[in-house]
Amino acid sequence: MMKIPMSSPDLTDADRQAVIDVINTPNLSMGQRILEFEQAFCEQTERKHAIGVNSGTAGLHLCIRAAGIGPGDLVITTPFSFVSSSNVLLFENAVPVFVDIDPRTGNIDPELVTDAAKNIEKYLPRRFDYGPRSAPSTAQRGRLKAILPVDVFGQPADMDPINAVAKEYGLTVIEDSCEALGAKYKGQPAGTLGDYGVFAFYPNKQITTGEGGMVVTDDDEAADFIRSLRNQGRAVGDTWLQHTHLGYNYRLDEMSAAMGLTQMRRLDELLAKREQVAAWYEARLSEIPGVEVPIVEPYTTRMSWFVYVVRFDPKIERDAFAQRLGEMGVPARPYFLPIHLQPYMAERFGWREGDFPVTEDLGRRGLALPFSGVMTEAQVEYVCGAIREVLSAA
Ligand SMILES: Cc1ncc(COP(=O)(O)O)c(C=O)c1O
Repeated sequence: MMKIPMSSPDLTDADRQAVIDVINTPNLSMGQRILEFEQAFCEQTERKHAIGVNSGTAGLHLCIRAAGIGPGDLVITTPFSFVSSSNVLLFENAVPVFVDIDPRTGNIDPELVTDAAKNIEKYLPRRFDYGPRSAPSTAQRGRLKAILPVDVFGQPADMDPINAVAKEYGLTVIEDSCEALGAKYKGQPAGTLGDYGVFAFYPNKQITTGEGGMVVTDDDEAADFIRSLRNQGRAVGDTWLQHTHLGYNYRLDEMSAAMGLTQMRRLDELLAKREQVAAWYEARLSEIPGVEVPIVEPYTTRMSWFVYVVRFDPKIERDAFAQRLGEMGVPARPYFLPIHLQPYMAERFGWREGDFPVTEDLGRRGLALPFSGVMTEAQVEYVCGAIREVLSAA
């Protein structure tokens, strides 16, 4: 029996050496490496500013602060995501206004985003603690501040209609590209399609720094503010013990930045390897009845494969199936479990099962298979063989 890892970082001696080089110096934080890593992002995304932080969540949180989103403010976003894209709103006592997703991609449905911007009162959660819930709809409209789309599984959200409605209503767009470094939407890099873009570098991501994240923006003032907040609220000119703003320690250390820099130099290679693994999967899985493979839309001019999530026919009992795969050395995970049904979210906002049917359907039928750029064709073959075997036994 093969034992297949769920994911693995793709590291070389150059990555390891880069970290060793840093630890042989006294500069383990706030040195040159972070500046070089940020510069690499400015080049990759053609944005004026890139600000390295110690997680994608930290990056998203700083964008929320920079956008001035506060208690009772409303942000249109998706319940089909990793939970931190919504958590960062709760950090500031803002309210996620969920709309359902496009069943093909799992990305936020742009028509629903447009409708929600026009008729926000129709989309509010059943309850929330802050701000006058029963205020007239014009007051609610004033509290709508932003749209936070997520580029799910490495495929950009359909951003043109989202940006159009954002422009019409003066809303900030924060693009959560934590899963989509290197992806392109109609030729434009993911993360550059809104006012702010955020990337993340956990070890299962396209590039890794262990833990880490990056914010990109063209807004000079916002970039200064984000740099300050990441560094305990010290503004330009502040000394170590002067803090102009309420800030955080969201800094990325030099070891991580050094690894990120060498990883970034290999970005095209890393993405090409992941694409090859996805192609091996697709060739085998698209022939198996009851299994749906991921759809890449024509507007995704470059897919940046993050995970490989298949969907099962509703008649197949997904969790029992995953359990059987696990017994054969093949780990697999439901991906995602809907955010609105996470206990603290449901309790706080009164969401219930049935509120976002497409999200819930994908939440029930989706399964992430083992995936990384270092997977071999033999490993993919083994996973697909196990899937065939379990399905035919069922
Ligand atoms: C869509 C999405 N948003 C945000 C994050 C948060 O990134 P991090 O784990 O680095 O905080 C992730 C990564 O796990 C993610 O997939």
